[in-house]
Amino acid sequence: MGSLEIGSRLDACLTAAVAADPGLADVAKVIAACASAAIEVSTVIGRGALAGDLAAQGEQNSDGDVQKFLDVFAHERFTEALRGAPVSEVASEEAEGVMLLNPGAPLAVAIDPLDGSSNIGVNMAVGSIFGIRPTASTPENPLGSFTGPGTLQRAAGFVTYGPATSLVLTLGDGTQTYTLDRAEGVFRLTHPRMEVVASAKEYAINASNARHWDTPVKAYIEDCLRGAEGPLDKDFNMRWLGSLVSDAQRVLLRGGVFLYPGDNRKGYAQGRLRLLYEAAPIAFLMEQAGAGAIDGERRILDICASAIHERVPLIFGSADEVACVAKYYGGRNSAAGRSPLFGQRGLMRS
Ligand code: AHG
Ligand code: MN
Ligand code: MN
Repeated sequence: MGSLEIGSRLDACLTAAVAADPGLADVAKVIAACASAAIEVSTVIGRGALAGDLAAQGEQNSDGDVQKFLDVFAHERFTEALRGAPVSEVASEEAEGVMLLNPGAPLAVAIDPLDGSSNIGVNMAVGSIFGIRPTASTPENPLGSFTGPGTLQRAAGFVTYGPATSLVLTLGDGTQTYTLDRAEGVFRLTHPRMEVVASAKEYAINASNARHWDTPVKAYIEDCLRGAEGPLDKDFNMRWLGSLVSDAQRVLLRGGVFLYPGDNRKGYAQGRLRLLYEAAPIAFLMEQAGAGAIDGERRILDICASAIHERVPLIFGSADEVACVAKYYGGRNSAAGRSPLFGQRGLMRS
């Protein structure tokens, strides 16, 4: 995205990106559409209870999650905005199948319109996540736009509706963050090139699931808990914000590692997060900021979906820490002795 000034408006930054690479013209239009929908969603979220019961429950979505008012509202705002952009189809968390928008348009979008739904109604940060891919569906292969690897993404982004509303974005040339200037109703560049520190001292995981984890995760977290006395030789802090975008934004800003592994609960063998509209966009943004993103053994961006709501275990963050976690998976140690904490000895015993 070249060397743009802090405070530049998003539209000026997109214009500069297209000037440098005219092939981004349609991608820029899709990003602008997502940004306009995000501002609408941010305005409603910012009114909190004054906007009514944003957590009012409705139908179940295809993943069996109960849809809340804000899930559906965000889905409608984003898909409506994308209908006015060069988008052929959308794979949304809140729609069973692929939604056809503009036949023949060059781009397809995978979207999580409202991420962190369990935070709705309790005034905690939520977000929206999107990945933009070239259209590749055909009548013979109607999911074709979404079954390629994440490396096909032309752009990806997420919005965090937090104390500030921010848009974290990559067009394949680094990861930037824009912050919503509410007075002007525009996003402004505040972080021109995000770089994730290589080593981590903070991990994010839902520790209430510890008894369900596979051995490698149990061993890694056990070693994090052992701190400087353990094989990882450092003390860790822990955070779990209940919204992927919030944990991702913290990792981008101060490093750390996030884990949503598969576990042995029914339906959680591949974890909870969806490949197309959560893991792949986040992985693209992380890699463009010098961080890593794996499923434990594979690079997320190399994985191909076979269904639009397919789940995948997701571990991302500081490159050295993700590599460390990969060692625990790679060195699966089924012969591990039992430790008092999780019933398995750490793999990195000195
Ligand atoms: P969504 O609300 O789009 O379903 O996403 C929620 C995800 C993710 O944002 C968060 O990290 C994770 O679910 C939290 O899962 P747990 O409630 O199992 O901790
Ligand atoms: Mn989500
Ligand atoms: Mn969601």
